[in-house]
Amino acid sequence: MSFESTSHTHTLNGTRQIVFLTKELFLDEITSCDNDLHTKTFSKDFITALHTLQQRYTLVVLVDEGGYDSIFSLLHTFDIELSFYYTHLPLKETLDASTIKDILVVKEFYQQQIYAPLSMYLIQPHFKLSLIDPSVGQDATSFLEEVLTLSFFNYDELVSWILSHPTSYQSLITSLHSGAKILENGGLVAFPTETVYGLGADATNPDAVERIFSAKQRPFFDPLIVHLSHKDQVGPLVRFLPEKAEILITHFWPGPLTIVLPKSDLVPDIVTAGHPSVALRMPNNRLALELIRLSNKPIAAPSANKFGCTSPTTAQHVLDQLEGEFEKIIDGGGCTVGIESTVISFLEEIPIILRPGGIDQQTIESVIGKVAHQVHDSSQEMSTSPGMLPSHYATSTPLVIVDDYREYASRSDVGVLLFGKSEYLFTGPVEYLSPSSNPAEAAKRLYQAMRKLDSLSLSLLVVKLLPETGIGIAVNNRLTKAAGNFQPKRS
Ligand code: TXA
Ligand code: MG
Repeated sequence: MSFESTSHTHTLNGTRQIVFLTKELFLDEITSCDNDLHTKTFSKDFITALHTLQQRYTLVVLVDEGGYDSIFSLLHTFDIELSFYYTHLPLKETLDASTIKDILVVKEFYQQQIYAPLSMYLIQPHFKLSLIDPSVGQDATSFLEEVLTLSFFNYDELVSWILSHPTSYQSLITSLHSGAKILENGGLVAFPTETVYGLGADATNPDAVERIFSAKQRPFFDPLIVHLSHKDQVGPLVRFLPEKAEILITHFWPGPLTIVLPKSDLVPDIVTAGHPSVALRMPNNRLALELIRLSNKPIAAPSANKFGCTSPTTAQHVLDQLEGEFEKIIDGGGCTVGIESTVISFLEEIPIILRPGGIDQQTIESVIGKVAHQVHDSSQEMSTSPGMLPSHYATSTPLVIVDDYREYASRSDVGVLLFGKSEYLFTGPVEYLSPSSNPAEAAKRLYQAMRKLDSLSLSLLVVKLLPETGIGIAVNNRLTKAAGNFQPKRS
């Protein structure tokens, strides 16, 4: 490959680590008018993030064409020093693994030429961070062999992750090994999954599992999901595996689908709350899978929040409610699905969805045919899947489902969760679930947004339900449960 560096390369020196930024990051940030760079604005958060990073890192932007000098000058006026490197590579909107291999070539070039100790960070658009294994090519046994991408909800979280993982790749590997040891020895480890963060313990160790219940203040009648890193772990944990369940496993694991099956004697009663069934899932998160694999155990893990409260989608959310209750937390950034797995039971003739979640009913039916779904709020529901109590996922500020935001728009003490756009101008704080009305984005941001508004000491949170299709059904299920029995208060 060929590339040339610009005259700005002198800002690299032999002692600093490097953060690569793709040009799309900037294009993302350049929100205002008409391609005229002189009228562009950068968000305050973006500028703050770059300021913080450049105190410890050299910032390098990878570009495949010219024309960025004016951005360079503009950022210079904010005291941000960027180095530009031109590559002939087509830098795609989101970089895939093959592109990143090419960037590694760039990295090797740096090493040969300037002997800079390189960081493994590549910041992508939409708050994504790729970790590049410094030993790629040398140590092919590493689980991060393929580039690992983490997601964040904002610049602030992205930057603090970088600063708290000074040798990101190595920090993660060390963390996973020590986490696995803790699990093996009966301790608790909080870890990221694609849905929400879980609070894990060795599922075969009743004492360890008991600690989960006390940490969460969770009633013992609410059974836990057992997390696996490999499909082969299912066999020993169940009495039998119906064909349709096996088909779902093939299609959707790893992924946000939990399957309830008749349990074997290997699963202690405390895990299943005395039920003869066990709920199994293989999460689609490489850190979670590696942690479980290293521990050599099936891992029981509920969402890592106090019982009945809003679920956590960042490590900070976990710390906010459960700090001190576990031995270790693996910080894997923000969860990408954002709401819990779909729970489907195979105990009856027709499979039944007990909890809507990351994979919707239609998608499941397209693979195994008709399934039933649990009727909301029946007392029967509570005995079948006791975790689905009428009030759950709740904020401490009362949350109310509304048909129209009109009467709340002018109240400064009311927080608004907004899907899509609104005709109203709100006086109080607004959290945008998805400005483009994308239900998957709304799912991803839901708990983060609920927690944010909940932290503002407001008197009320209001939300309109999403259209009742796809993952919108699961979002509405969580919002309805979070609203519980609250009635709108009139002022
Ligand atoms: O996405 C998820 O499923 C997350 C992440 C951490 O994997 N976990 C999670 O766990 O949401 P938890 O404990 O917050 O919710 C588990 C749900 C509860 O509604 C529980 O009642 C149900 O699964 N469940 C567990 N075992 C069951 C069983 N044997 N029969 C019926 N329902 C069960
Ligand atoms: Mg939960």
